[in-house]
Amino acid sequence: MSGQKPVILSGMRPSGRLHLGHLAGALKNYLRYQAEGAVCHFMVADWHALTSEYAAPAAIRENSRELLLDWLAVGLDPERAVLFAQSDIPEHAELHLILSMLTPLPWAERCPTFKEQQQEVTDRDLNTYGFLGYPILQAADILLYRATHVPVGADQLPHVEMTREIARRFNFLYVPEGAPVLPEPESVLTESPRVPGIDGRKMSKSYNNAIFLADDAAAVERKVMQMYTDPQKLRADTPGQPDNCVVLALFKLYLPDAAAGVEGECRAGKRGCVACKRQLLPALQQVLDPIRKERERLAADPGRLETVFADGARRARAAAADTMVEVRKALNWRQRP
Ligand code: TRP
Ligand code: SF4
Repeated sequence: MSGQKPVILSGMRPSGRLHLGHLAGALKNYLRYQAEGAVCHFMVADWHALTSEYAAPAAIRENSRELLLDWLAVGLDPERAVLFAQSDIPEHAELHLILSMLTPLPWAERCPTFKEQQQEVTDRDLNTYGFLGYPILQAADILLYRATHVPVGADQLPHVEMTREIARRFNFLYVPEGAPVLPEPESVLTESPRVPGIDGRKMSKSYNNAIFLADDAAAVERKVMQMYTDPQKLRADTPGQPDNCVVLALFKLYLPDAAAGVEGECRAGKRGCVACKRQLLPALQQVLDPIRKERERLAADPGRLETVFADGARRARAAAADTMVEVRKALNWRQRP
């Protein structure tokens, strides 16, 4: 990688608002790469959303706008990163088609996310050709920009691994000698610990335990006051056992300098949960306030989102078209007239 600027591609499915878990996870890396001046592409994966929402696609458009709004509110900057929607770039579909020809069926069938979702999702039918192709579409997303680094959550690692295998197979078949046309990307995880939801499980929209970036101050307060603590700690002067306490976990993330003291006082029976929550709350509001304000400011200007999408599409398409020229050369295909 030395000497060469990293090229970043990552994406999220538009499936609801972002929460603190996203901010501490993949988004933190998006922002770091943007700040370092890497070549950044961040994609709203609306075709990926369609793999599971094909029976009711109407909400995808509004969810895509909400996702872009969250991204802009946390500081992703269309001047420094290409922010775009997958479905605005037909080359994703084209490269997906070509890659699907050379991807062995068992690679897709054995993908852990595919097997898991088929078993766990029971409220709709995911037994489709498109759903099986999910990781191959994701490979197309990444390889289309010849990304070197893909910041993702741990659940996406098998997809990035499959992307590497598909790239290797493409290069092996079509460019056996010479520089690879499609470089193998690396996945990048954040080292930050997982953010617990207010009930102590992993923060997730589907668990109904998330603090959303768009929550207003009253909602955040309500959620903090509901947080799971040590259930045996009935009073301030009963010694606590905070190993599973969500409040303490969030102290460690958002008020790290105070966390050790809080833990000691809790165990010694020198602090109560309500006081603890009252101390955490302003620290969370301080993280969320500017995001919320920026979100409101942007929401008041609906044309702005469309401009960002349009500009991002133009720039993404230029990069995608360059790669497709190389892909067609490798296949000995005629270039588009
Ligand atoms: N599958 C990813 C998720 O569910 C979203 C995604 C689509 C993605 N294409 C991508 C992530 C390319 C990284 C790179 O979160
Ligand atoms: Fe958690 Fe604080 Fe209550 Fe201890 S006192 S259980 S750290 S909220």
